[in-house]
Amino acid sequence: MYSFKFPRLLLCLWLITLLSLISSTESAPTYSAHYCFNTTLFTANGTYQTNLNLVLSSLTSNSTDNNGFHNASAGGNTPDENVVSGLFLCRGDVNTTVCQDCVAAAKQELLRRCPLNKAAIIWYDECLLRYSNESIFATINEVPGIDLVSTDNIAEAETDRFNAVLANAMNSLATKASNSDSGKKFATEEDEVTSSKKLYSLGQCTPDLTV
Ligand SMILES: *[C@@H]1O[C@H](CO)[C@@H](O)[C@H](O)[C@H]1NC(C)=O
Ligand SMILES: *[C@@H]1O[C@H](CO)[C@@H](O)[C@H](O)[C@H]1NC(C)=O
Ligand SMILES: *[C@@H]1O[C@H](CO)[C@@H](O)[C@H](O)[C@H]1NC(C)=O
Ligand SMILES: *[C@@H]1O[C@H](CO)[C@@H](O)[C@H](O)[C@H]1NC(C)=O
Ligand SMILES: *[C@@H]1O[C@H](CO)[C@@H](O)[C@H](O)[C@H]1NC(C)=O
Ligand SMILES: *[C@@H]1O[C@H](CO)[C@@H](O)[C@H](O)[C@H]1NC(C)=O
Repeated sequence: MYSFKFPRLLLCLWLITLLSLISSTESAPTYSAHYCFNTTLFTANGTYQTNLNLVLSSLTSNSTDNNGFHNASAGGNTPDENVVSGLFLCRGDVNTTVCQDCVAAAKQELLRRCPLNKAAIIWYDECLLRYSNESIFATINEVPGIDLVSTDNIAEAETDRFNAVLANAMNSLATKASNSDSGKKFATEEDEVTSSKKLYSLGQCTPDLTV
């Protein structure tokens, strides 16, 4: 039996491939993973925390933006040890209510899980939220990333066919998502692996990236 790995959930290129569509109808977001950058900590109640709180409030209060993306910064315009930059990205196919709930949950969870970290990121099925004292806007950061491994297996005889369909789907997604003129840089694919099995895939970039 062959077990395939989901592509990495990158900071900026957010790819999820699903063998079957996950239907999530609840507004409680589904936590996936988080990462605390332990190398850089801030002092409780200091300037960094004040700026971080400003950024997080700006993000949560702007989480109903139609494009499901917002970036905010506080403390100045040039990267500095006390300048905080933050952003969120909601999955392109969730509505504003789901997006808002996800960003609010992400903010709370990240502050709880990484309480004194200057930089942190959290992923849900529905959104991602991150902040840092380094410049994070309009840049690609491939680290950290996470792999989510499916428990579904592909039959041995279908492996080659599956991999070929998967490779095509990923290339097509990258092109469609990056060139999308919807303002979201979001795309989905539905491909036939066998007559009875489909490959559903989804790709998304933060809209602050160039094509
Ligand atoms: C938003 O999507 C959720 C999940 O699909 C759904 O339960 C909810 O009714 C939707 N809300 C609106 C305002 O469309
Ligand atoms: C960061 O520190 C937290 C709390 O001490 C720990 O649970 C976590 O594994 C560390 N994360 C990394 C990426 O080292
Ligand atoms: C920071 O402020 C909170 C709330 O005012 C307080 O409970 C906490 O003790 C303070 N921490 C430090 C290290 O000053
Ligand atoms: C929403 O974002 C804009 C632009 O970043 C910012 O000026 C504004 O203060 C934010 N809204 C709130 C209510 O914080
Ligand atoms: C958002 O990011 C863009 C770069 O893509 C930057 O020019 C802009 O100043 C940022 N907005 C805020 C509020 O930091
Ligand atoms: C971010 O903060 C760390 C730790 O305080 C510092 O070493 C680093 O230089 C800061 N980054 C920038 C761009 O100022």
